Amino acid sequence: MRKSDLAFIAIGILIVLFFWFAPPETTVHVPADDNHNEFRDIEHAEGKKAAEKFCRDCHNPDDMPLSEEHPPKYRCLFCHKFDKQQ
Ligand code: HEC
Ligand code: HEC
Repeated sequence: MRKSDLAFIAIGILIVLFFWFAPPETTVHVPADDNHNEFRDIEHAEGKKAAEKFCRDCHNPDDMPLSEEHPPKYRCLFCHKFDKQQ
């Protein structure tokens, strides 16, 4: 395999990773409401990982199941941005 082939593959992998972790802004935003505002504050203070721990309290298979087509569910806030506060 030539060096340029390796570079091509590496760039391909990078592009896939980029879209995986930075999906288009069209992904539904986390609403700016009483259910969610608290987590925006936690994200600001302690980061995404700390805030995400609480999502499954409500968005779990029993109370509010995510759709069948929902992509992998760990790290909610990598994909879902908070809506701008009104
Ligand atoms: C206290 C319960 C509760 C918690 C905790 C919670 N949610 Fe929600 N979430 C809701 C409810 C109820 C709705 C639908 C009504 C609304 O818009 O608030 C909703 C709606 C959403 C929506 C919009 C869905 C749509 O179809 O527009 C997203 C995205 C979302 N939540 C993500 C999150 C994430 C990410 C977290 C963790 C940071 C989280 N939620 C934590 C109750 C909760
Ligand atoms: C890999 C990216 C990704 C991750 C991680 C992710 N989501 Fe989603 N989520 C999406 C996409 C894409 C949709 C579908 C958007 C649409 O229908 O326009 C979606 C839809 C939703 C919806 C709307 C209802 C539904 O099921 O379609 C809610 C609520 C939601 N996600 C909550 C969460 C929660 C809570 C977590 C963490 C436990 C999470 N998401 C993790 C990408 C992600």
